[in-house]
Amino acid sequence: MPGTVLVGTQWGDEGKGKVTDLLAENYDYVVRFQGGNNAGHTVIHGNTELALHLVPSAIMYDDVIPMIGNGCVIDPRVLVEELGQIHSQGISTDKLRISSNAHVIMPYHLDLDGASEARLGKNQIGTTKRGIGPCYQDKVARIGIRVQDLLDEHIFREKLQTALAEKNDILRKVYGMPTYSVEQICELYLPYAERIRPYVADVSRELNEAIRIGKQVLFEGAQATQLDVDHGTYPFVTSSNCTAGGASVGAGVGPNRIDRVLGVAKAYLTRVGSGPFPTELSDAVGETLARTGGEVGVTTGRARRCGYYDAVLVRYAADVNGLTDLALTKLDVLSALERIKVCTAYRADGTTYKTIPPSQSAFHHAEPVYETLPGWGCDISECRTFADLPREAQEYVHFLEELAGVPVSIVTVGPERSQTIMKGWR
Ligand code: IMP
Repeated sequence: MPGTVLVGTQWGDEGKGKVTDLLAENYDYVVRFQGGNNAGHTVIHGNTELALHLVPSAIMYDDVIPMIGNGCVIDPRVLVEELGQIHSQGISTDKLRISSNAHVIMPYHLDLDGASEARLGKNQIGTTKRGIGPCYQDKVARIGIRVQDLLDEHIFREKLQTALAEKNDILRKVYGMPTYSVEQICELYLPYAERIRPYVADVSRELNEAIRIGKQVLFEGAQATQLDVDHGTYPFVTSSNCTAGGASVGAGVGPNRIDRVLGVAKAYLTRVGSGPFPTELSDAVGETLARTGGEVGVTTGRARRCGYYDAVLVRYAADVNGLTDLALTKLDVLSALERIKVCTAYRADGTTYKTIPPSQSAFHHAEPVYETLPGWGCDISECRTFADLPREAQEYVHFLEELAGVPVSIVTVGPERSQTIMKGWR
């Protein structure tokens, strides 16, 4: 079977980029299927370092075709900048494919993202302010502008006029902000269209043809299960389906083309932006995790909130994604702790929950129920096989497997490619 989906199981920043990068060379295609430049990771290959937000990191491999699927939203300014950055490292972008049906982030989406957050005040979502939510809103409202519209000046002007009739009213009357003219945006965006044109393709058709002749496809999820608009901690979520089902919709392939779903879980837990986080730590342990784990966002530079591993979340992710495997990342960061707690259930309103509580308010004041495990008290960053790990670290991994009901196939013990233990991934 040809398809593997890789998804985040927590609130993002699990280290999906490193795992994708590790696996990419075994696939013929690597496809982004949702999100936009709200994602981001740094890829290091020898002396080359790239900060990528939109283009799959598979761009670095000669024999892998990177694709941006219809489910993504694209800020052309960011894409063009990213292509420039890749070229400046001497890497060709010729094989990149961008779906003509992906939606385009417009300047007013950025304005509306910021304005809407400011208006929400203390209830704000804590978005990345990249215009992601407003762009998806327009897609669903059917006044969005797709990549193919951008390539046809006549259509682009027409669609822009329709969109601006509404957007300008909102900008001016609701938020008291400056408005846009069609001309102003055309001047900015039409040159981008020419830069992007060579890459635009029918991604769904190309993928289906490739799958028919036995090619292997890795669907690379951005954000994570708890940020999924349907299955996450709504409303503190992103505006797309980051769970495995999103791969089928966002790339245009049938679900029966996917046979493996790899969930990436950090060995502890982080979150950026607002919203509930039962195992959040505001003590010295939280500070240690933040410092040792370098927990600062690649996209926004924001400090991440840190806490203990929450097995309830990962068990939930196992269900909603149909996980077949787990990749456990940053296990080395826990070496700093003498004892390690794992949340196995929550208590709220006198009830114990082994699953995510059915109501948002119960989840908001859920208290974690912990099991405490011994730490291993030594550096594990040089371990390369599972047997190299100290017994306590092995037991920690086995405990998490048992709680998730999913085998851990990959363990990472540092940021380098080599700092990886292939436990059961074939
Ligand atoms: P948006 O995706 O910019 O609309 O932000 C919505 C929520 O998703 C906010 O809480 C963001 O912090 C969060 N978010 C979006 N992208 C990422 C990511 O790549 N990592 C972690 N959190 C993210």
